[in-house]
Amino acid sequence: MKTILITGASSGFGLMLANKLHTEGHNVIGTSRNAEKLQATVPFKVLSLDVTDEKSIEEFTKQLFETVKQLDVLVNNAGYMLIGLAEETSAEAGKLQFETNFWGTVNVTKAILPYFRKQKSGQIVTVSSMMGLLSLPMHPIYAASKHALEGFFKSLR
Ligand SMILES: NC(=O)c1ccc[n+]([C@@H]2O[C@H](COP(=O)([O-])OP(=O)(O)OC[C@H]3O[C@@H](n4cnc5c(N)ncnc54)[C@H](OP(=O)(O)O)[C@@H]3O)[C@@H](O)[C@H]2O)c1
Repeated sequence: MKTILITGASSGFGLMLANKLHTEGHNVIGTSRNAEKLQATVPFKVLSLDVTDEKSIEEFTKQLFETVKQLDVLVNNAGYMLIGLAEETSAEAGKLQFETNFWGTVNVTKAILPYFRKQKSGQIVTVSSMMGLLSLPMHPIYAASKHALEGFFKSLR
């Protein structure tokens, strides 16, 4: 039985993975920006986290390690896909894509790493995308954010 943190566990891959690992007997902690709403519908523990907000990451990390003694796995899943032509994508929309997919993932990882180092154990799984390795038309900023993640995690590894 492992203790596994999954960011963005309210829908899609995150929800599917959290339910599966919970069913297999693991101690799953999922996150959502609407934690109360999600907690009412799922069997695993939910904590509040907005990965674009450094204060939220700080409070979340404190709460997490008050809830669990040890964390075995961090699954960086929270993220979304921005679709659109480069010249039609606003700077604001592009920045939010990076704040979420890249900086959000990096900042959550940075918050957890000191605990992993202290424990002398811990695994990090990051949900990238095919578009972290190749770029399809209409997804320039999304592909860039996932390429950036690939670079960060290759260096970290
Ligand atoms: N769907 C695909 O075809 C596909 C393919 C390759 C890779 N991916 C990657 O897989 C991951 C999950 O995608 P999905 O399709 O399953 O997406 P989804 O169903 O839209 O779920 C996205 C999750 O991310 C969370 N999230 C979004 N913004 C957040 C923020 N600012 N702070 C904290 N959590 C945030 C959402 O949580 P709340 O809204 O509850 O906070 C939600 O649980 C993403 O990293 C995506 O890039 C998806």
